Amino acid sequence: MKDFAGKIAVITGGGTGMGRELARQLVAEGCNVAMCDVSAENMAETKRLCEVEKLPQGLRVTTHVADVSIEDQLKRFRDELIEQQKTDKIHLLFNNAGIGGGGSLFTSTREQWERTFNICWGGVYLGVRTFLPLLSKADEAHIVNTSSVNGFWASVGMGTSHTAYSAAKFAVKGFSEALINDLRLNAPHVKCSVVMPGHIGTSIVSNSRQIQNGSDRLSPNELQQARQRFKAMGLPVETMSDEDIQARGLDRARVFRDEAPTSAAQAAKIILDGVKADRWRILVGDDAQKLDEMVRETPEQAYTQAFFDSMTKAVGWKVG
Ligand SMILES: NC(=O)c1ccc[n+]([C@@H]2O[C@H](COP(=O)([O-])OP(=O)(O)OC[C@H]3O[C@@H](n4cnc5c(N)ncnc54)[C@H](O)[C@@H]3O)[C@@H](O)[C@H]2O)c1
Repeated sequence: MKDFAGKIAVITGGGTGMGRELARQLVAEGCNVAMCDVSAENMAETKRLCEVEKLPQGLRVTTHVADVSIEDQLKRFRDELIEQQKTDKIHLLFNNAGIGGGGSLFTSTREQWERTFNICWGGVYLGVRTFLPLLSKADEAHIVNTSSVNGFWASVGMGTSHTAYSAAKFAVKGFSEALINDLRLNAPHVKCSVVMPGHIGTSIVSNSRQIQNGSDRLSPNELQQARQRFKAMGLPVETMSDEDIQARGLDRARVFRDEAPTSAAQAAKIILDGVKADRWRILVGDDAQKLDEMVRETPEQAYTQAFFDSMTKAVGWKVG
């Protein structure tokens, strides 16, 4: 798809981060956008930002509250879209919504684990199922599924359990890669890309805590894990109160957002350029490119401390 003007795009998780920036850039190119999110307030802000520049005559930006892990809510989103965008087809589907957390089979609850998995994997799967008939009706269409570097490297560092997110992101990558041929065989006018961002400056850490714990604060299990991680890092945890640990947790979310090598706007541009160039695998950021090379070069080493140390040095990551 060479340009987006006059097309209709669906974006899941359009309330903040990369979803918001995708919406803004698509609208700036004259594309109609229908977004969903669990936060109506954040979507209203995205819509306002999209409309700051005067919208071309007749361009539509619609917002729809829907949880991507619940099929009935996605179907309601689809029905609202058909009515409000006055269409029976869409051209672009960005399955972007995602959260972290629920990383351990030992210290996370089953509910937390499955929430992350069901949003990050289930949201992509159900998104494709729900919107495929509308995509198929367009002359040309493109599905863009957001995985992560955790779709080919199942870790964020030696001190953190990361099973639910990694399992989901590997699933998104495998599904998207297999979908390329399923589409080629059955709907060749529909293309598919998998997006694998490195560290992008968004509020995903605090947003995930809001969804998993109902607040910005670490849950009791996360507090305990953070203590263990800080101890392994050589910090004097014995002298640190729970509030000291909470403060570092809040700071970690801020550092993740404010000190990333790639901004959400830069990420959205890389993704949209990748779609225009018809690339099926879209790595986002120099860190993602480098990590991809390193995992391919030394797969057996990928989960060792030495690999992690040389990787963080090479890509300049401050997380882990
Ligand atoms: N930020 C990174 O470093 C990074 C790296 C790799 C992959 N990713 C992936 O990129 C995607 C976008 O993340 P982001 O960093 O922009 O985060 P973000 O938190 O800024 O945006 C995600 C949006 O999804 C929404 N959301 C969460 N659960 C939802 C649900 N059940 N239904 C509908 N909407 C829901 C959130 O409310 C939020 O608005 C995610 O899939 C994430 O896993 C992010």
